[in-house]
Amino acid sequence: MKAWDGVAYDALPLPHEQWGKRTIEALSLLPTELLLDAGCGTGRDAQLALEQLSEGSLICVDQSSTMLDQCRSRFGQDSRVQILEGDLDKALPVEPESVDAIMSVAALHWLSDHNNVWRHFFAALKPGGRIATDCGGFGNLAKTLALVPQIDPNITFPNWYYANVGDTEKLLAEAGFIDIKVSLRPHPTPLPNKETLATYLRTLVFREWNDEQINQMSDLLTDNTLDYVRLEVRARKA
Ligand SMILES: C[S@@+](CC[C@H](N)C(=O)[O-])C[C@H]1O[C@@H](n2cnc3c(N)ncnc32)[C@H](O)[C@@H]1O
Repeated sequence: MKAWDGVAYDALPLPHEQWGKRTIEALSLLPTELLLDAGCGTGRDAQLALEQLSEGSLICVDQSSTMLDQCRSRFGQDSRVQILEGDLDKALPVEPESVDAIMSVAALHWLSDHNNVWRHFFAALKPGGRIATDCGGFGNLAKTLALVPQIDPNITFPNWYYANVGDTEKLLAEAGFIDIKVSLRPHPTPLPNKETLATYLRTLVFREWNDEQINQMSDLLTDNTLDYVRLEVRARKA
C-alpha cells in the first residue's frame, strides 16, 4: 500500500481535528497522567492532548514511518513524549497495566479484528484506566463508496471495517471493559472546493488511485461532501 504523506496530510482542512477534540475531552485527563495515542498519525491530536499533561507524558504509536517522521518533527525534543512504531493488531508496545488513558482518532477502521484491539487496549491500561476512540462506523462513506463502480467496476480500495454499535459493545464487554458507551454520529463534511476535495481524496481516502480516477470521483461528488459516520467509544477498566 502507498505510504501516507504526512506533510500533505497536515496541510489539509481535516474534520479529524473536531473528532480529536471530542475524543480528548471525553477522557478528562489529569495533568500527571500517561496517555497513549493509538494510530497517532502526524501527532496533531496528541499535541492538543499534551497541553493537558503538564507533568504527565504521552506515547504515540503508529505503523507508518512517514506519519511518524512528521510526528517526530512536531514534538522535537519534548521529554514528555515517546514515539513508537507499532501495529495495533498486536499488543501495544508498552508494559501491561502501565497507561492511564488511550485515545485513537480515525485509525481503528483500518483494522478488521476489533476483538484484538480492545483486548490489547485493556491489557495496556492500569486499573481504572479509560479509553476514548473515534473511527469510521457503520454506514461511513456509504454514499461516496457507492459511486466507485461508476469510475471502474474493478477498481480497488482498502477493506475498511466500519463496526456497528451492538458488535462493539459486545467486544468491549468481552474484553473486560465497564461503563461502556458506544454511538454512531453522522458527520457530513463539505470540502471548500474541487481542488481541496481532490487533494483530500488523494491524500486520505483513495491513496492508490491515479489522478484521473481521483478527478472523476471529485466530479461525481457534486456537493463536495464526504458522508462520514463516526463510531465513538468511551469505556473504562474496573
Ligand atoms: C487517517 S490517519 C489518522 C491519524 C491521526 N490519528 C489523526 O486523526 O490525524 C490513520 C492512521 O492510522 C494508522 N494505522 C492504520 N492501521 C494501523 C495499524 N494496524 N497499526 C498502527 N497504525 C495504523 C495509519 O498509519 C495512519 O497514521
